[in-house]
Amino acid sequence: MRIIVVENYDEMSKKAALMIASQVMLKPDSVLGLATGDTPSGMYKELINLYGKKEVDFKEVRTFNLDEYYGLDRENSQSYYKYMMTNLFDNININTENINMPDGMAKDVNAFCDLYENKIKTLGGIDMQVLGIGGNGHIGFNEPNVNFEAQTHLVELDEQTIEANSRFFESIEDVPVKAISMGIKTIMNSKKIILLANGLNKADAIERAVKGKINPSIPASILQLHNDVTIIIDKDAASKL
Ligand code: PGA
Repeated sequence: MRIIVVENYDEMSKKAALMIASQVMLKPDSVLGLATGDTPSGMYKELINLYGKKEVDFKEVRTFNLDEYYGLDRENSQSYYKYMMTNLFDNININTENINMPDGMAKDVNAFCDLYENKIKTLGGIDMQVLGIGGNGHIGFNEPNVNFEAQTHLVELDEQTIEANSRFFESIEDVPVKAISMGIKTIMNSKKIILLANGLNKADAIERAVKGKINPSIPASILQLHNDVTIIIDKDAASKL
């Protein structure tokens, strides 16, 4: 694991955007694995800036998102589909046919998850996967006591996640309790991984993920076994290392 500690959120976002832009320069038809949440939104702004300056071209890029709430229509303002369109895709020259997101309204969830996995494989696997981390150590929606062997599947959200994400909904009752998420195995099959974290509320999770035993109770700890992980964190998230 390479750990890069930066001063603040802006620096974290810029570094991560440069890594993605470099990946796309080296391989214009890269398969990117993308994340949602507060953590990567600054990185997406930077990528839009770089695109505006013609320093990166997304024409051939293919993307797969990590997760989506189950039971939320993609037009819902809180869907991760909406987040991705607003925060990135509507502002760059990606071909919409190259965008892949879990379908939160899939009728046959298992069949959908198999299709998603197969499509990732058919396109040659994920070249670079971006991850945030939950305060409970989750990556994607792979919650504590995770099965490290799982691929894309339907998951039940942890109470801590529902609580954390309720800030985006009118009330905690409105937060979906299930999601479709890439599994740990899907994430671990990515060729390169970048994990981003900022803020004191992530310091415990970062400490346990990086220094603790590899353990299903802290899903991000499995990343210790991956051979190309870069962790970009601000001073606060690094304060317990
Ligand atoms: P956040 O979420 O970026 O909104 O903090 C990260 C996560 O839960 O994975």
